[in-house]
Amino acid sequence: MATAHPNEDHRLVIVSNRLPVVLERTSDGRWNFRPGSGGLVTALAPVLRNRGGMWIGWPGVVDEKPEQIREALAEATTGAGYSLRPVLLSADEYDKYYRGFANEVIWPLFHDLQSHCTFDPKYWIAYETVNRKFAEVIADSCSPDDFLWVHDYQLMGVATALRALDIGNRCAFFLHVPFPPIDIFLKLPWRFQVLNQLLEYDLIGFQTQRDRKNFVQCVRALAKDVPLVTRRQTTFFRPQNREVMAAAFPISIDFGEFARLAESHEVADTAWYIHEDLPHRQIILGIDRLDYTKGIPQKLHAFRAALRRYPELHEKIVLLQVVVPSRWNIPRYLDLKTEIDRLVGEINGEFTRSGWVPVIYIYRHLERRELLAYYRTAEVVLITPLKDGMNLVAKEFCASNVEENGVLILSEFAGAAAQLHGPALVVNPHDEETVAQAIHDAVYMPAEERRQRMTKLRQIIRRRDVFWWVNAFLRAAIGKHLDRFPVVEDYMPSERRPPPEQPGAEA
Ligand code: G6P
Repeated sequence: MATAHPNEDHRLVIVSNRLPVVLERTSDGRWNFRPGSGGLVTALAPVLRNRGGMWIGWPGVVDEKPEQIREALAEATTGAGYSLRPVLLSADEYDKYYRGFANEVIWPLFHDLQSHCTFDPKYWIAYETVNRKFAEVIADSCSPDDFLWVHDYQLMGVATALRALDIGNRCAFFLHVPFPPIDIFLKLPWRFQVLNQLLEYDLIGFQTQRDRKNFVQCVRALAKDVPLVTRRQTTFFRPQNREVMAAAFPISIDFGEFARLAESHEVADTAWYIHEDLPHRQIILGIDRLDYTKGIPQKLHAFRAALRRYPELHEKIVLLQVVVPSRWNIPRYLDLKTEIDRLVGEINGEFTRSGWVPVIYIYRHLERRELLAYYRTAEVVLITPLKDGMNLVAKEFCASNVEENGVLILSEFAGAAAQLHGPALVVNPHDEETVAQAIHDAVYMPAEERRQRMTKLRQIIRRRDVFWWVNAFLRAAIGKHLDRFPVVEDYMPSERRPPPEQPGAEA
């Protein structure tokens, strides 16, 4: 079948494990829906709202009747400008493909945590079965002209399954999570299969240059017969005379929408009440999905170190840590929740004084207005993942910081650091002393320096927002001209500055 090149006339079909809405049954048997969490949904929802098209994915429930799900999804997207097509999973598939292969193999491995992996062969079989299931729904729902854009680590095998069904649409893939270095990737029992599956796509997008380089190194070592050449940060592979391209496209947010909503009266009012309840305090904000990759316990340790080392911070700051529930039925996530609860209790037990509780901890999904109010009102945001594909919270905070007086403290292991490392305070999340020092530096940063840094951060994010991202990706998918590929920053840390002497600080 001839392959169609995407342009404005081609319908965009997004394929991801999750649909942008999560369906839940209420106690009276009706359907409730809420937006999905995580960077993928945050970034792609405005893209489809803007362009129209179709989104194929799993609605978050198992063993349900297809007609009922279709009706509920039609209701959820009334007036949205795009349609949703469900891929239904059985309880067994959910267990072995989603909980197993996706979340106990690829997720931890690609975040450099091989000790968290369970390499159960049954998981691999379920992953292949479910990827075929996705391909069948695509085959049923799409016409040959549609441009297929498959997302993330759960669906690396969809192109292979489509080719087996003789579906020849042009098909691109974007990996939202990091691609690991070769020594870690080699641990995967299905390493050859996964590389070959990725090479079935026409274009493979990564978040950073480092991810692309890791992938190229793995192909060089494990798929020696695939010729490849890299020009201007783009790698061209030629498996069996097909051409496959790989490049970095840092994902982003709808900057304009965040800035506009943050300026609204509603958000300003909510923000005012948040600060009214915390007079004379600087708010240090943390917002993370419940996940061991987000480094939440390490962040709490660093916050405690800051309070121990700099007594002048007492009663001056509060850490407002929001944890968004996620993957709650996977034991490791439950353990993490217990650890966070314990650490928050310990820190508050050690430092609380009359009128001052150092850690305010929220464990729930936030509504958009509330989220924006926290972004708008916080003086500092503390984002310290141990490893993260991009981290859109960092970009959302800056876009919403319309007064341009906030400070971004960012882990060097978040993909966002490649773009934001200049004006952000970049830290190694494993080094609690440096994070503690960055908290102190941020709290005492002069207003003019805050403004200069935040203005710069907002310029970078505004220039490369989510619409830039989607256009850059689609332009690259249209043709192989090198000028169609963006030039994307790379980042390596430089040597750490010694901490300044603190008068009155504890030894
Ligand atoms: C990350 C992943 C997404 C995933 C999201 C939420 O952002 O990159 O693919 O959908 O987390 O995780 P969940 O397992 O609930 O879909």
